[in-house]
Amino acid sequence: MLRMERMLLLGTQFLFVSLLLSFYVHKGYAGITSTFVRSQWPATDIPLDNEAFAVPEGHNAPQQVRITQGDYDGKAVIISWVTPDEPGSSKVQYGTSEDKYEFTAEGTVANYSFYKYKSGYIHHCLVDGLEYDKKYYYKIGSGDSSRKFWFQTPPKINPDLSYKFGIIGDLGQTYNSLSTLEHYLQSGAQTVLFLGDLSYADRYHRNDIGIRWDTWGRFVERIAAYQPWIWSAGNHEIEYMPELGEIVPFKNYLQRYVTPYAACGSSNPLWYAIRRASAHIIVLSSYSPFVKYTPQWRWLREELKRVDREKTPWLIVLMHVPMYNSNEAHFMEGESMRSVYEEWFVHHKVDVIFAGHVHAYERSFRASNIHYNVSSGERYPVPDKAAPIYITVGDGGNQEGLAGRFRDPQPEYSAFRESSYGHSTLEIKNRTHAIYHWNRNDDGKKVPTDSVVLLNQYWSSNKRRRKLEKPTYGTAFY
Ligand SMILES: [Fe+2]
Repeated sequence: MLRMERMLLLGTQFLFVSLLLSFYVHKGYAGITSTFVRSQWPATDIPLDNEAFAVPEGHNAPQQVRITQGDYDGKAVIISWVTPDEPGSSKVQYGTSEDKYEFTAEGTVANYSFYKYKSGYIHHCLVDGLEYDKKYYYKIGSGDSSRKFWFQTPPKINPDLSYKFGIIGDLGQTYNSLSTLEHYLQSGAQTVLFLGDLSYADRYHRNDIGIRWDTWGRFVERIAAYQPWIWSAGNHEIEYMPELGEIVPFKNYLQRYVTPYAACGSSNPLWYAIRRASAHIIVLSSYSPFVKYTPQWRWLREELKRVDREKTPWLIVLMHVPMYNSNEAHFMEGESMRSVYEEWFVHHKVDVIFAGHVHAYERSFRASNIHYNVSSGERYPVPDKAAPIYITVGDGGNQEGLAGRFRDPQPEYSAFRESSYGHSTLEIKNRTHAIYHWNRNDDGKKVPTDSVVLLNQYWSSNKRRRKLEKPTYGTAFY
């Protein structure tokens, strides 16, 4: 009898523990599908004559002004612009006090054609040897048509620096895109990490393709002339159009958007890396060869070895096509790159991977699927503390509209997903903590909707953390 009671008691205890475990396992790994719906502006491009694309006054005045980082560590910028009527000067005058331009740098100028469209004169000027953490004023163009801007160099690479990045993807040139830019301007972020699909000019035909590349250049100038945009390319940049006799991929994009690829030993502007403040940022090309032995594969393998988390604790990867995506749109398109690179990303403890392409927002838990092979049968992603967080920010607001159909049920790796427009910020606080936000565009205001405190993947090891002071930010670690 006593034995029977003991067995019953054990059985009850087992049931209770099982229920408790299943509750916590489920609770700790359950994602949210937001049901938020807002009345959005139509997904149509802003008309050509709208003030959002205003041409600056004056004969041959420089337009489409933008900057990007010009070297590996942030002591250089590349300033680019277009002169519409004649080549003009490729000179940049610059200095550290307003209206006192004591230095000069000389750039290059070129134009090109795409079908029957003839581009303006595209200037690129490397301004190097800058001091860290300084505001520079610069002037381009000549006489009455000259224009003035400024930018701030980042502080010297240091593991404990705070720095705020903005993240924008799939922007396009609609009123929703404009809303994203306006909200980004309020964010206080210092550099844009751009996730590919810029102008959506390829949705047009013939000469309008080039014209819409020009409008987009003027559209983003309000931000891009003052802080660097770190570019990555998407499918809308490919523009392989044999029907127009245009068979060189990325032609418009590569003529206009330059990157400091040579500074990190890359052989191609479509994949490269930079270091900025306390972050090491790797940009990959979803639409260039990436399998074993290709130039991108070989370069990435070496670049990952160069990452020094003692100097740049935050390791961030940008690509266009997400590896983890639970939207019906573009589902599984990132699978080929995932099968090649995911193991490296887990091994090197990448903090976060940002992608675009899917016109919605989604954040994953830390999960990996690196034990799969064609004969093992272990085919499901599992929770993995060493894995990156995958975040899709393809919601800039382009003319293709939102991707509104998420897969049901929500996969376990998916933490939060919502089909609306917005942008993200990653505010690095120090070597151990960063605050991440996704900000929804909501009828004229930005609404912080999804946020997490990120604990650095390298410095989160107990051994390393014990050496540091007690962290001061947040309580929830992801
Ligand atoms: Fe895309």
